[in-house]
Amino acid sequence: MNTQLRSSRVVIIGTGAVGTTTAYTLFLRERVSELVLIDANKDKALGEALDMNHGLPFTGGVKIWAGDYSDCKDADVIVIAAGASQKPGETRIDLLKRNAGIFDSIIKNIVQYNDHGIILVATNPVDILSYVSLRKSGFPSNRVIGSGTLLDSARFRYLIGQNKGINPRSIHAHIVGEHGDSELPLWSLANVAGISLEFSEQDREEIFNNTKNAAYEIINAKGATSYAIALALDRIITSILQDEGSVLNVSTLLTDYNGVSDVYLGVPCIVDGSGVRQVLELELGDQELAQFQASANKLKDEISKLDL
Ligand code: 2OP
Repeated sequence: MNTQLRSSRVVIIGTGAVGTTTAYTLFLRERVSELVLIDANKDKALGEALDMNHGLPFTGGVKIWAGDYSDCKDADVIVIAAGASQKPGETRIDLLKRNAGIFDSIIKNIVQYNDHGIILVATNPVDILSYVSLRKSGFPSNRVIGSGTLLDSARFRYLIGQNKGINPRSIHAHIVGEHGDSELPLWSLANVAGISLEFSEQDREEIFNNTKNAAYEIINAKGATSYAIALALDRIITSILQDEGSVLNVSTLLTDYNGVSDVYLGVPCIVDGSGVRQVLELELGDQELAQFQASANKLKDEISKLDL
């Protein structure tokens, strides 16, 4: 089924593993009418666009091309997936210096052509770079979104599903905070059909550790993560383009949220055509609150070292 409701353009900046897999996901699912690929390496973007175009006889009518920043003019959503990715053993925060540097010119180039779209950041460390994008773009915070802990929550739901023998689509469970080492699981909210899920301490530890360390495991095994993050980005983009109002754990600007302000973190948000329409305030237990605030402080400390 073609779920595309209206003419829409998505620009993807960065044609590495995440950018291209996201493009391919949008292409296969026919989410958009126009898909533009931009990369500092123009040949790479050109090759990826050509390769997908040759699949058009087997799919629908998504128009894809390798473009430049002027194509941002008519974009509804601009995905930033450019920059260095983790090497085995590196944390997401280790990428900050390298990737914050390139955001300066990326955001300048975007806002030169676009003042109405939604910037969706996937580059790591995603929460900090979403904050950087907000500050550098001057866009309102509802229109600067990070992929946040949507992927971590998907991993969490998958692992809980494995543990309980239940399809992960039927599991409601949330990871919040940093998309990274200080994230936290909200066990008290994990449920199926509104019924709380019980776990042994050992199961909790194993499920959460496997959630938190999933990217390290995949990067050690195959060098990069791509498929699940692409599906998470597809979910966010579709909620925007189809004005769904889905509740997604994206990274957003927090203001007086459980005692946390002026930082981006992953929390449940209502996402629609306006971007983040509403940030949903969670009631956290004492220990969760302390962990959440520690996650915020960790990121604020890193942000304070940046020249913004
Ligand atoms: C992931 O969690 C590396 O942030 C990326 O898959």
